Amino acid sequence: MVVLDPFGGVGSTAKAAAVTGRKSISIELQKHWNELAIERLETEVAPGDSSKHTFINDDSREALLKFEPESVDFVITSPPYWSILNKKADHKVKQERLANDLATNYSDSDPKDLANIADYSTFLKVLASDFIVPSARALKSGKYLCMIVSDFRNKSKFVSFHSDLIQELDNANTEDGATLALQGVKVLLQNHKSLLPYGYPFAYVENIHHQYILIFRKVAKP
Ligand SMILES: C[S@@+](CC[C@H](N)C(=O)[O-])C[C@H]1O[C@@H](n2cnc3c(N)ncnc32)[C@H](O)[C@@H]1O
Repeated sequence: MVVLDPFGGVGSTAKAAAVTGRKSISIELQKHWNELAIERLETEVAPGDSSKHTFINDDSREALLKFEPESVDFVITSPPYWSILNKKADHKVKQERLANDLATNYSDSDPKDLANIADYSTFLKVLASDFIVPSARALKSGKYLCMIVSDFRNKSKFVSFHSDLIQELDNANTEDGATLALQGVKVLLQNHKSLLPYGYPFAYVENIHHQYILIFRKVAKP
């Protein structure tokens, strides 16, 4: 089976495919993350393993146009959660990452980086039309496309990213005579995180300690 991840990052999908006997195709805009993904397979799976997989260092918008329709068996991806890593207001995440000497964004100002789209509704539409629909076009009919996403806060506003994405993608036309149909939603619990008393005692401000796996199927139109 061939597994496609259009936001390959440091290769979690590639590693999972490698250890379960599948082949993966990762597309990642940033050279640094793409190289780390290759290095990860070499060190965490086996020397030489990265050559069994495909790593494309490019804008997925461009790369996905070159895929044959119905050529992959599974799509799984975790897109940027809008510009949330770039937000100065997100003190806790940013400070934790700075303290651990981790990158606080995926790229500084690359206009091709999806996370750098300033307006949330434009971001949602571009994510669906330029990345997920073309990935679904590359998927075989009857097969599945999964997205791992989290809700988030933008200043004081809670943004239900997972449900906004479902609204954008359920019944979306894949432009090859099929549609994406939502099959279910799994919650991925992140129980290792500490609870913090945000807002207490004045307001309820949620701790976000879970992510969602949105499961879609490519179904032929009746
Ligand atoms: C949430 S991360 C993916 C994490 C990934 N699952 C991993 O194992 O590291 C999103 C990734 O999308 C990449 N990205 C953003 N815009 C992109 C684009 N236009 N084409 C390809 N990759 C892009 C970012 O550089 C970032 O590495």
